[in-house]
Amino acid sequence: MSRPEDTLAADVHYNDAEARKYTTSSRIQNIQAAMTRRALELLNLKSPSLILDVGCGSGLSGEILSSVPPEEGGPHVWVGMDISASMLDVALQRDVEGDLLLSDIGQGVPFRPGTFDAAISISAIQWLCNADTSETSPAGRLTRFFNGLYAALKRGGMAVCQFYPKNDVQKQMITSAAIKAGFGAGLLEDDPGTKNVKVYLVLTVGSTAVQAKGGDITGVVEGMDNVEVLDNRKKAKPKSGKGEIKKGSKAWIIKKKEQMERKGKIVKRTSKYTGRSRGPKF
Ligand SMILES: C[S@@+](CC[C@H](N)C(=O)[O-])C[C@H]1O[C@@H](n2cnc3c(N)ncnc32)[C@H](O)[C@@H]1O
Repeated sequence: MSRPEDTLAADVHYNDAEARKYTTSSRIQNIQAAMTRRALELLNLKSPSLILDVGCGSGLSGEILSSVPPEEGGPHVWVGMDISASMLDVALQRDVEGDLLLSDIGQGVPFRPGTFDAAISISAIQWLCNADTSETSPAGRLTRFFNGLYAALKRGGMAVCQFYPKNDVQKQMITSAAIKAGFGAGLLEDDPGTKNVKVYLVLTVGSTAVQAKGGDITGVVEGMDNVEVLDNRKKAKPKSGKGEIKKGSKAWIIKKKEQMERKGKIVKRTSKYTGRSRGPKF
């Protein structure tokens, strides 16, 4: 089946007619609500939180956040970002609770560092795998998005992004962009191997109960039915000899950074420059 993101930019696809059709379909309403509830279950927020809804569209996902009852830790306050003015217009007409921002996530996430307790994204980020113009690459757009999202979240915060990867290459491309940005990341799939498979990227920032377990998201999904965890993170392998990491090496620096993050300290993102020796000073 052809995918809209293969042929059109999101803001062109989600025009006035499509935004109305999307929002009024009871099938879509039910699916988006169920996936948002699942994302909330994975976030496991214990008290009312400030949540960023990435690709919020007409507010089908956001309204689930506002409707969480106090006994389940809500209601949450949310801010939505979307590239489609038509989708946001429908959200305004529906008088959703969240504040709305017309913005392209492929350009970054324009909020002060540490603004949000958590983030969700429901059925949006696969759009980043398609470049809209020849000047923008999917890799660049994914990097800007995940770097921005990482900065916009509080240390100890989490994000859950449900998305529809076209294939394993896209799954890998999205996951590794998140890991490069500094997130602890894991992929989980509900109903794997069926046509109803749902993929969730679970992301952690700094020290959380999840990262205290060595960044292993299996703790988050323990006891849940029909969940298969695919953890794509690669641990830095010791470079020298018998399990020893050489002091000052890239692996050593990454390990120290992880230790600092677990203590809740803010550390610089790991990049291709991490641990590189500097050239001579003149
Ligand atoms: C399938 S809709 C989901 C909307 C909402 N999350 C829901 O659950 O109903 C996908 C949304 O992602 C938005 N989107 C796609 N690419 C985007 C981008 N680069 N920046 C911001 N929003 C984007 C689209 O405009 C669309 O509103």
